[in-house]
Amino acid sequence: MEEKFRVDPSDPATFPKFIDHLTVPPLATPEKTYDYHSQDIPYYKIMMKEVRHRFHKLFPTTRIWGYNGMSPGPTIEASKDAAVHVRWVNSLPEKHLIPVDKTLHGTIDTPEVRTVVHLHGANVAADSDGHPDAWYSRNYEAVGHAFTRRVYKYTNHQPGTTLWYHDHAVGITRLNVYAGLAGFYLIRDRLEERLNLPRGPYEIPLMIQDKAFNEDGSLFYPDNATPPVNKPVPSTPSFFIGNTIAVNGKLWPYLNVEPRKYRFRILNASNLRAYGLSLSNGGIFHQIGTDQGLLQNSVEIDSFVLEPAERIDLIIDFSQYRGQEITLVNGEGSTPPADADTGVIMKFRVVLPLKRPDTSDIPEDLFPYHPINPSLAYRERTLHLDETVDRYGRVMHLLDDRMWHDPVTEIVKKDTIEIWHLVNHFDFPHPIHVHLVDFEILGRKPFTVADFDKKGNYKYVPQSLSPPEIYERGLKDVVRATPGEVTTIAMHFKEHTGDYIWHCHILEHEDNDMMRPLKVVD
Ligand code: C2O
Ligand code: CU
Ligand code: CU
Repeated sequence: MEEKFRVDPSDPATFPKFIDHLTVPPLATPEKTYDYHSQDIPYYKIMMKEVRHRFHKLFPTTRIWGYNGMSPGPTIEASKDAAVHVRWVNSLPEKHLIPVDKTLHGTIDTPEVRTVVHLHGANVAADSDGHPDAWYSRNYEAVGHAFTRRVYKYTNHQPGTTLWYHDHAVGITRLNVYAGLAGFYLIRDRLEERLNLPRGPYEIPLMIQDKAFNEDGSLFYPDNATPPVNKPVPSTPSFFIGNTIAVNGKLWPYLNVEPRKYRFRILNASNLRAYGLSLSNGGIFHQIGTDQGLLQNSVEIDSFVLEPAERIDLIIDFSQYRGQEITLVNGEGSTPPADADTGVIMKFRVVLPLKRPDTSDIPEDLFPYHPINPSLAYRERTLHLDETVDRYGRVMHLLDDRMWHDPVTEIVKKDTIEIWHLVNHFDFPHPIHVHLVDFEILGRKPFTVADFDKKGNYKYVPQSLSPPEIYERGLKDVVRATPGEVTTIAMHFKEHTGDYIWHCHILEHEDNDMMRPLKVVD
């Protein structure tokens, strides 16, 4: 066969950007709905499969893992308070796509390929949360000690928002998600429907991930087979950085748009990379929502940072940009700093004719939620983000100096408000995620040793905090713990009890003990 271009997938300088059209993941369709207390509950069966996927028009296909054989997986659409049941079936091969480091927690005496699905941001009973130790192998031949059920029940008892589902198996989450196991889960509600936001073809979810490839087009993930010599091979890196950018599974795609308003729900589903996003023409974003739903009021922003697992819900009005090509740029605020390739994400080409007049709105008032009153907090906790060195001389990032399997220390009472002070001793940010709850960011402040008492507890002065970024207001489930600062969040544990977790959402950190149990008790 004759090659049209000499393309080396490992080197982004050898292939053009913006030649693949953006794809939008299809909606998942339920197997059946069944009557349950006179309610029809949709039942989905979603199969995790190994398939071949084309990331770029000029690439050979790449072996990936996808939910229903797709990456991103199919989008599940649910309505507030209407339950959905999902059976997430592991039909994956016995051997992993990526070499597995068998020195990490949970990987030593367990099958190489294990999965468990977590619905990120869900208010959900503990047995359907996708606990890392509730993993199962193909056909449930082996299961983790926290495994209890095959069918997960989502009550969707929370405001409309953009959730996402992804793998969470202990010790290999970074590899499973990188292999392709992630998808969107949208909760709709009546309030939002009344707002007349852009919808249908004008409402598009965007999942951004950095990837790297070998010359033959297969996914590249470092095995770290370099000295120090006492390291195992493969040995997990303490972070992964890809040299290409995928949006909804295509590298640097473009999207042809009409000169009108579009709603985008943007998710950073990268292992480590944080993005600092803006439009190349200096255009503005109308932010309407964050991780956990709509803001009280829409705000205009010209840039924002999206850490791993964070979502932003925004509207871009292309009506003034007829004929323009606008690039979504990754600039200031990106971690690590972007280069010429990773500095661009995708392109919007305002070339389609307007099909019909745009009657959608960007309402000023969106969602009347009641902010948490931090003065009602039942308990305050100071949690240090620190490190140790493992027996191979590798840095391990930890939460409060404890390992994943150390006894639970974050035991919270249902129906109480807690304030957590996340003390980041590193010189780079860690995106901290708490399962089950939403929270508000109260603010941040640089710290010195004088800010802590003898026990290491933070001497909290509420008025001394600087407020969160404008785009970080509202209800969140991931927060950037900024370097050299205390980041203070407040959360209300409202509904469920049981065993949950909290962790850094840099997947290489999470897999290497920057993850802790969280217990909610009555
Ligand atoms: Cu998005 Cu515990 O994860
Ligand atoms: Cu989560
Ligand atoms: Cu981290």
